Amino acid sequence: MIWEKKMFLDKLALKYKSDKSSQGHSYTQYYDFVFDKIKKQSLKILEIGVQSGGSLKMWKEYFPNSLIYGIDIDPNCKKIEEDRIKIFIGSQADPVFLKDTKEKIKDDIDIIIDDGSHQSYHQIESLKILFPYVRPGGYYIIEDLHTSYRKKFNKGSTTRIMTYLYTLIDDMNLNGKTICANKIKIVEKLEKQKIALNYYEKNIEYILMFSGLCVIKKIKRDIKTTTFFTSQMSIFFKTLHQHMTDMIEKFKKKQKKIIFWHNYLVNDWKELISDQFETLYKSGLYDAVDKVCCGVVGIQPCLDEYSVFIKELVSSYTTNNKIEIRTSIENSFEYITLNWLKEYCNSNDAYVLYFHIKGISHPIGSITRPFEDDWRKYLEYFNIEKWQDCIKKLDEKFDCCGIGYRKRKKFIGNFWWANSNYIKKLIPVSNVLLNKDKRIVALRRRRYFYENWLFKYNPNKWTTFTPNIYCFYSRVGIYKGQRRLLPKEYKDEK
Ligand SMILES: C[S@@+](CC[C@H](N)C(=O)[O-])C[C@H]1O[C@@H](n2cnc3c(N)ncnc32)[C@H](O)[C@@H]1O
Repeated sequence: MIWEKKMFLDKLALKYKSDKSSQGHSYTQYYDFVFDKIKKQSLKILEIGVQSGGSLKMWKEYFPNSLIYGIDIDPNCKKIEEDRIKIFIGSQADPVFLKDTKEKIKDDIDIIIDDGSHQSYHQIESLKILFPYVRPGGYYIIEDLHTSYRKKFNKGSTTRIMTYLYTLIDDMNLNGKTICANKIKIVEKLEKQKIALNYYEKNIEYILMFSGLCVIKKIKRDIKTTTFFTSQMSIFFKTLHQHMTDMIEKFKKKQKKIIFWHNYLVNDWKELISDQFETLYKSGLYDAVDKVCCGVVGIQPCLDEYSVFIKELVSSYTTNNKIEIRTSIENSFEYITLNWLKEYCNSNDAYVLYFHIKGISHPIGSITRPFEDDWRKYLEYFNIEKWQDCIKKLDEKFDCCGIGYRKRKKFIGNFWWANSNYIKKLIPVSNVLLNKDKRIVALRRRRYFYENWLFKYNPNKWTTFTPNIYCFYSRVGIYKGQRRLLPKEYKDEK
């Protein structure tokens, strides 16, 4: 299941011809399993072994906000350097070179991968020197462990890497000094009792052994000290540091982000919702938001099915279920979800994203459905995949942003981001609309009200590119070779 859903890293490995792909060692499945949740973070990643740069380029695309460092003994590798990729030339068994490299990188490193010579002696030396430079909570990985069983990879060493790793498993278990798995608590207790612990005993949280590859996870708090006094000082500074980090994180995330997602359960609703959730998840937006409020309209059997379906869908990607649901059997177009959004904004400060299950009322096989699908992808690209650009616009004090603001006062397709402070000013959303003569507006015309509602108070709006075409009848898809239709700043992207 994990493998089917998360092919992204493998595609990159194939694209950049790294032997970590499914056509080589197949390590991408393990890496995706371990790194999927942190790939959008800003990290420092160091790989020993550059060769033609395949894996470094793969990492660069997989970790879009990270810096990638490479070490190789071959001076030709220097030419692989590019934006966000830096190469250091030297041997992974040379302690002076490794320390010097760390000084140049400055901060602790989040992920270190050893895909260098695969000589046991080198692997052990690098681990001994570099593991202390791994950020608490970070990872040290050694690849191609099968080499441990071959003579030619054990030149000049008395210990094979696998034998050394077995000793680390002993260390991870504190060599039997305790039966408690709460490392932080127990290490402090043992140190108070003046029981000596080695660095690995204090710092390995777990070791994952895959076929050919192991992942050593460093415990979140880096425990270096041995005496009680210094350990207390260390705790003080660590707490202070943690406090400062939390403050910075809080400051960065000061504005809550909430999604309001309108779901209409007809035709192939399950497929379309799955597709939209995948986009949401892969963009990193799902991880970044505080909750996802789903307003759902449909007949009762579909509504019953929906709550099980959405739970299973989310759990196939993550254990973090942020979905809240409101349902209605009465179809008043987008009323249920927009009304919820308005209610929420009246008493909260947040950035809100509104989007819906666009195209669902056009059955599969109808002439218009391919146009709708393309158009939906286009809306998702700007509002979901490029969500950070939208947040920046709201940070710049725009009230709302979306695509293709038109004279008819709407963002085409009605996907948008808005600041709750602006939404507070808007008139309530009603499901009974009266026209000037106080007559109830026909249902089919109410949908336009929901599309125009955002503009009732003349917002300071930011709109990306307005395609000079009718989305109903044109293929505006960004994935179908129609990139020429994109605004300039997006056109050159890979
Ligand atoms: C398996 S290749 C790396 C492949 C690369 N990581 C990838 O997936 O595309 C191994 C590399 O390790 C380098 N190497 C060999 N001995 C080394 C040493 N002692 N120190 C650093 N690099 C070394 C080789 O020059 C070679 O480029």
